[in-house]
Amino acid sequence: MTQTAISITNLDKTYSDGLKALDNVDLEVKKGEIFALLGPNGAGKTTLISAVCGIVQASGGRIEIFGHDNIKDYRQARSHIGLVPQELTTDAFETVWNTVKFSRGLFGKPKNPDYLEQLLKDLSLWDKKDTQIRMLSGGMKRRVLIAKALSHEPDILFLDEPTAGVDVELRKSMWKQVSKLRERGVTIILTTHYLEEAEEMADRIGVISKGRLIVTEEKATLMKKLGKKELVLELYKSIEEIPEQLADFDLKISGGGFQIIYVYDPAKEDNGVVRLLESLKKQNIKCKDFNTRQSSLEDIFVQLVEGS
Ligand SMILES: Nc1ncnc2c1ncn2[C@@H]1O[C@H](COP(=O)(O)OP(=O)(O)OP(=O)(O)O)[C@@H](O)[C@H]1O
Ligand SMILES: [Mg+2]
Repeated sequence: MTQTAISITNLDKTYSDGLKALDNVDLEVKKGEIFALLGPNGAGKTTLISAVCGIVQASGGRIEIFGHDNIKDYRQARSHIGLVPQELTTDAFETVWNTVKFSRGLFGKPKNPDYLEQLLKDLSLWDKKDTQIRMLSGGMKRRVLIAKALSHEPDILFLDEPTAGVDVELRKSMWKQVSKLRERGVTIILTTHYLEEAEEMADRIGVISKGRLIVTEEKATLMKKLGKKELVLELYKSIEEIPEQLADFDLKISGGGFQIIYVYDPAKEDNGVVRLLESLKKQNIKCKDFNTRQSSLEDIFVQLVEGS
């Protein structure tokens, strides 16, 4: 049986101003799993991670890390965890090497320069090891945070929006790092606004909204449910309403009447796109241009929240 890495039961958090940031959250994450937490701004992602890492005190409920209660056995629980926080905070005047070495020391781990060297090499930071943090680019600083989080060889890694504001190349290279860690059996919990990122990396996805974990599902299952696309048709002439003959397509008018939007499931063989175009022709509605786009996460959240 696979070991449980994290077990969260009935977790509540109400901040001192009365705001309920977490509402009865239950979650189990297995060892070696990559779990992506999706949710709009203010949903409670950082609060949840902070509670597990012991940075935020929960108002109710229970958290266990490999069977250690994260309050009663704080030290043991914490020794399993590495955290890459959402906000960039590092000691600007320290060098990369000293920062990482110091972080390891904080956990009372014996020195292991070989491990730290390999870590910095893996994160393409080795040539910067003697550089002060303040001299690094934003993307490099983020990688230093990852190195810090991994300095004490944790077997659970939390990544709170690891790729926010990071360019495409670095994002891809971070994805690679994460899959390397997974090969080593590290359990990973990450938060993201990018559906693509969750799709690329996660085994399982949780959606959090207003402090409630409204969905936890295997990635494949969720992607099927969420993978809707929109076809946006640009019209020559504006229309005021959708002709009755097109009612079946459940179209929306947008752009001051100059756009028609059709939501469809690209995975379906008969997804209606061709039929729609033919029907428009019959109705003498002429299109100037069209494009398709993935339904945005925001839309998906709305759908999920409404459906829950
Ligand atoms: N220290 C705090 N005191 C009071 N309220 C807080 C505090 N930290 C967070 N909150 C509130 O708790 C709610 C959840 O915040 P949280 O940072 O967990 O959201 P998030 O899902 O991480 O959002 P984002 O995607 O923007 O990072 C928000 O309404 C936020 O304003
Ligand atoms: Mg956050």
